[in-house]
Amino acid sequence: MTVVINMRDGLDERGIRIAARFILGGRLVAFPTETVYGLGADALNENAVRRIFEAKGRPADNPLIVHIAEFDDLKKLAEEVPREAKLLAERFWPGPLTMVLPKRGEVPYVTTGGLDTVAVRMPAHPIALALIKASTPIAAPSANISGKPSPTLAEHVIDDFYGRIECIIDGGETKIGVESTVIDLSSERPTLLRPGGLPLEEIEKVIGEVEIHPAVRGKLVDVARSPGMKYRHYSPSAQVIVVEGKRENVKGKIAELVEVYRSKGLRVGVMATEEYEADEFFHLGKTEEEVARNLFRALRELDKRGVDVIIAEGIEERGLGFAVMNRLRKAAGYRIVWA
Ligand code: TXA
Ligand code: MG
Repeated sequence: MTVVINMRDGLDERGIRIAARFILGGRLVAFPTETVYGLGADALNENAVRRIFEAKGRPADNPLIVHIAEFDDLKKLAEEVPREAKLLAERFWPGPLTMVLPKRGEVPYVTTGGLDTVAVRMPAHPIALALIKASTPIAAPSANISGKPSPTLAEHVIDDFYGRIECIIDGGETKIGVESTVIDLSSERPTLLRPGGLPLEEIEKVIGEVEIHPAVRGKLVDVARSPGMKYRHYSPSAQVIVVEGKRENVKGKIAELVEVYRSKGLRVGVMATEEYEADEFFHLGKTEEEVARNLFRALRELDKRGVDVIIAEGIEERGLGFAVMNRLRKAAGYRIVWA
């Protein structure tokens, strides 16, 4: 049985106490953060964490992010907290930034996918923070079945997990819509492992140039440092195709592709920042913030409307656009059409 706790109108202390009891009892609770919904369990309880992997169908070597509510919790999880980590935490926590650091012995290898490092973040969401404060540091991957688009609404979590986890907190739509930026500070040079809700440009203003792990661009080399990078991601059932290139060419190319697929008898959906004629259409909004917020929802909704093909308009790779294009290209299995 799954208890759904409605907090769409704001934090409710009684609901938090119920959810915290589930976490402390080794159960699973899905909760909103500012990025996407997380599927949480007590990060230091091996059996509880194991249940996250089972519920998601997640490979055991793909490590989880541990969520904390105050900076001091970091010292309980990380063996060393380098200067860059302190600077970044001061500037961006709570917020959509995850830092990978050498782990302490107390953090189980189940949580870190067998690695000697631990990924930590302090989410900027009152419900998430209250839940952690009322319980313990919480390990939480995005609350989707492995390989599916991340959830930005409680409905998405219900679709994937109703009846399979103990509790879902409904906090309405998540604000940012793409997951946190993951940066590795455990080795010689700071390295970006996943672009996300905090633009890389902002991080570089604080700690200088950051290396970009080649797998971020889709190259399958040295995935050992972030095993999550090698798995299929964000994929709806429909085939996704991304159209990238000069704006003035993209429009014509999308219209052309819609006709090509329709003439084959396929149902075609388009997700874009401008209007298009297609069997189904999802408007992503105009700004990069709006596109980030709507991205996963668009993939899930077009899928629900039963399209065979989703044609997605690419956006520029700066700011949040870096995270958006990273997710879109993965969702498309790197099927990219250049206009
Ligand atoms: O915004 C977010 O980060 C959301 C919300 C719930 O906080 N969580 C999330 O978790 O996106 P997940 O599990 O879907 O993605 C975590 C990413 C994976 O790519 C994983 O491989 C990487 O972080 N990661 C976790 N621990 C790591 C470690 N010790 N070293 C390298 N990468 C790690
Ligand atoms: Mg995920």
